[in-house]
Amino acid sequence: MHNTLIVYFSKSGRTKKIAEQISQELAASTHEILTEKKYPKTYIMTILESRKEFKNNEKPALIDAPIENFASYDRILLGFPVWFWTCPMAVVSFLEKYDFTGKEIFPFCTSGGSSCDKAAAKIRELCPTAKVHDGIKANSIDKSKISEWLKD
Ligand SMILES: Cc1cc2nc3c(=O)[nH]c(=O)nc-3n(C[C@H](O)[C@H](O)[C@H](O)COP(=O)(O)O)c2cc1C
Repeated sequence: MHNTLIVYFSKSGRTKKIAEQISQELAASTHEILTEKKYPKTYIMTILESRKEFKNNEKPALIDAPIENFASYDRILLGFPVWFWTCPMAVVSFLEKYDFTGKEIFPFCTSGGSSCDKAAAKIRELCPTAKVHDGIKANSIDKSKISEWLKD
């Protein structure tokens, strides 16, 4: 029996919706990654802001409350929108905040078409002591896709 936590970052709500759907299917808790800075409302301004973050390796400060009993979770389902073919820097901030040793990480993303592959590679680099599975693109998801994804 796994103890699963769904962690996600979502700028405009699409990934949040998928995270909530997975949470309902698995009866698992969710945790939203929240940044101190507010990203711009418009798509184009968010592109400019996040491009600057990637270029300067800026990791935005997080304001979400610490996850209680983090050590008790053995599976982290980590959701985010693809930004510039990879995960947003807010996800990097999150990954640097916790110790993932011995945990399994299952990345899932929403995107305009890009896959999760580059993000999964980055997560592997950032969490060398975790088992990071291949990511899935989850622009839509259902019960059977979830069980196929998480099967042992
Ligand atoms: C800054 C930025 C960069 C993006 N880069 C990509 C990309 O490289 N590939 C892609 O398919 N979609 C890209 N998108 C589209 C988002 O991944 C997509 O709209 C996502 O589902 C939004 O999720 P959210 O509502 O949870 O924020 C980008 C969007 C933004 C705002």
